[in-house]
Parts: sequence; C-alpha cells; structure tokens
Amino acid sequence: MDKIAVFPGSFDPFTIGHESIVMRALPLFDRVIIAVGENAEKKNLFSIEMRLKMISKVFEKESRVEVERFSGLTVEFCRSHNARYIVRGLRTAADFEYERAMGHMNWKMAPEIDTVFLLTSTEHTPVNSTIVRDIIKHGGDVSMFVPASIRISDYLGK
Ligand code: PNS
Repeated sequence: MDKIAVFPGSFDPFTIGHESIVMRALPLFDRVIIAVGENAEKKNLFSIEMRLKMISKVFEKESRVEVERFSGLTVEFCRSHNARYIVRGLRTAADFEYERAMGHMNWKMAPEIDTVFLLTSTEHTPVNSTIVRDIIKHGGDVSMFVPASIRISDYLGK
C-alpha cells in the first residue's frame, strides 16, 4: 500500500519554505498531497483557484505530488485519500504550540493518522506567508521568498 502524506495549509501564497518541506517529505513517502484549504472565513489574498494554479506549476514535473483543494476537516480529507500521515513544517518555538494543539486534536479525532513535523531549513525559518502577503500588499518584491516558477504579478489583480 502506498504511504501517502497530506500537507495541508492555506498557502496564501505558497513560499520557498513550503516548497522545501514538500521536497523533504518526498523521500519519506510514496505520494504527497498538498491540500489547499478553502476556508471561506479567512480573507485570502489569492483565490483558491490561483493558489491551486501556482502550486501545481511548482510541481508540474513531480508525478508523486498532487495538489487538491479541501474544505472541512483535514483528518476527513486524509481518510478519503487513504493518507495516514499529515506533514507540517515547524519554524520556531512560536509555531510549536499551535502545531502541537492541532496535532493532538487531529490525533484524538483520528488515531490512525500521525502528524509528522519537519523542521524548516535554517535559511527558510523567517519566511512566512503573512509577511510575504504584507510585502505584496505594499508593492514589494517577494520573488526571493516564493518558488522560482511562481511569478506573483501573474496572479495579482485578476
Ligand atoms: O496554513 P495554515 O493556515 O497554518 O493551515 C491551517 C490548516 C488549514 C492546516 C488548519 O486550519 C486546518 O487543518 N483546517 C481544516 C479544519 C480542521 O481540520 N480543523 C481542525 C484542526 S485541529
């Protein structure tokens, strides 16, 4: 049976930190599904369609990576895709508490699914979607924070 991991997130936008987590998850699993949250309550900068498009472009040559939208519980998405692992990146101690609570609660709801935390590589530790969004809103250049195949200007004002 394939070892399938789900990497869930808002990815608004997808950064080099996210890309690096996927690349490092690939040797550990047979397939990685990037699950892009639709969460209507969150005011996203990029629509779900744009986020799916930009992430798919990054992994267009990687057949073991799939990109899908999801709404509802992450654990239910995992179950419906036969995934036994959730992958999350950890940057700092500040991330840890939130991730620990989510990991524990997901585990309570679905004990058959384990969360695997990967530490972000040191050079990616400061890269954060919230700050990247803020730089974009103020007209700054974020090309050094997003994967090379994502040209942010292609997704703005559409
Ligand atoms: O990129 P983010 O915003 O940190 O991702 C958060 C995400 C999408 C992983 C989290 O909000 C989530 O899992 N949402 C789906 C709803 C759910 O399962 N909630 C319970 C988690 S304990």
